[in-house]
Amino acid sequence: MRTSHFPRHLWPLSTHFYRRRLFLDSHDLTVLGRRLGTPVYLYDAATIDHAIAAYRHGLGVWPGPGLITYASKAWLSRPLAHLLARRGLGLDVASQGELEIASRGGFDAGLLHVHGNNKRVELLQRAAEAGVGAIVVDNLYELSLLERLNPPAPVALWLRINPDLLAPTHAYRQTGHHGSKFGMAVEEALAAARRIAAIPHLRLTGLHVHIGSQIFELDPLAASIDRLIELAVRIEQEGLGTIEALSPGGGLGTPYTPADPAVPLHRLAARLCAHAAESWQRQHGGPHPTLILEPGRSLIARSGVALYTVGAIRVLSDGSRIIAVDGGMSDNIRPALYGARYTAVLARDPLGDAIGPAKIVGPLCESGDYLIEQVHLPEVRPGDVLIIPVSGAYHLSMASNYNGVLRPAVFLHQRGRILPMQRRETLDDLMRRDVFAVN
Ligand code: LLP
Repeated sequence: MRTSHFPRHLWPLSTHFYRRRLFLDSHDLTVLGRRLGTPVYLYDAATIDHAIAAYRHGLGVWPGPGLITYASKAWLSRPLAHLLARRGLGLDVASQGELEIASRGGFDAGLLHVHGNNKRVELLQRAAEAGVGAIVVDNLYELSLLERLNPPAPVALWLRINPDLLAPTHAYRQTGHHGSKFGMAVEEALAAARRIAAIPHLRLTGLHVHIGSQIFELDPLAASIDRLIELAVRIEQEGLGTIEALSPGGGLGTPYTPADPAVPLHRLAARLCAHAAESWQRQHGGPHPTLILEPGRSLIARSGVALYTVGAIRVLSDGSRIIAVDGGMSDNIRPALYGARYTAVLARDPLGDAIGPAKIVGPLCESGDYLIEQVHLPEVRPGDVLIIPVSGAYHLSMASNYNGVLRPAVFLHQRGRILPMQRRETLDDLMRRDVFAVN
């Protein structure tokens, strides 16, 4: 296989070949895997910057101000928060935990937007006291909690609408259809806007919609933007507030395997923003609010790779192999949860001719513990380092200690250096919450 056949768009920008081995900048990934220990996650800063630039390019099409806010549920740590804050991004947080990591990672409260369909009153209180950029009101019950708060200053609110649109993605990732737990129908949102207008410590400043995740077709996203702007017009016509922020959520798809659509991110982002501009002009026509894009996966997924070490290999009677590695559904539950597909390469021979299909499985006590149902690989031996690309989003943030497994270490590659971001979990970490009151 020639390097021209290698699906570069699935790999971090700093990945390249040297003597047919896979490198991240000057780092041989086999050597790195052995030195750092596996399973280990590596992020590439240049690839994150590339995705940020793609979104900035997209926002350039919007005639008003724009802001990229990273959906931190894709993965967050204080070092990552620090990196993103330095690049001028905002952050979507959906729990007190994420709010705390973001603040301690260096985010200005004003750049934080608080999401969630059942926010705890403690979170609302803390967010109001911190002076977050916006609390995104999901439902009327939450509004009643907000009405009862006693904040030091008026709280900026956005309304999350449910546009009743079915996103073309896995059912677990659809969030904008009738029957979804997220957001308010348009009439409900209008009722919320009327209530907010009557409360001095609350201020309606924006509208939000997010119909789902891993979406490659723009039409449903465009339709959700149209509904958002339609509501903005009605709210302003009724004199209930001025919409300063328009947030059509995240959700742009990321290719995981060569079979997935490979439209460049800057093009998708530009087409989305062009639609928002056209829709605003057509339906509203007034001064442009800030357009707030909220990517999670598409900002971070490609920048991350997961390195595993091969252990047991079973050869089945049909010649196919079951290759067990040292990580699995405890660090990547996506295959088990959504049937998500991945590809993998052998770090020491990424371009080698395949000898046949293999299933990549983990070490956990469950048959659903697999990482790849089928991948074609060359000869693999115990001790080899196997790499799975597009591992940056929704792996570590959904990781668990199932079977008492320790969560992986995380490093960042930046300008040739490999910097730690999160150490590997230890056995002591695992015991930390146990309380000995029983006898
Ligand atoms: N905004 C809101 C309000 C969200 O709930 C999400 C993701 C995003 C933005 C970012 O969406 P993205 O750009 O990442 O598609 N665990 C699933 C994905 C769940 C997405 C949850 N919400 C997966 O691994 O596919």
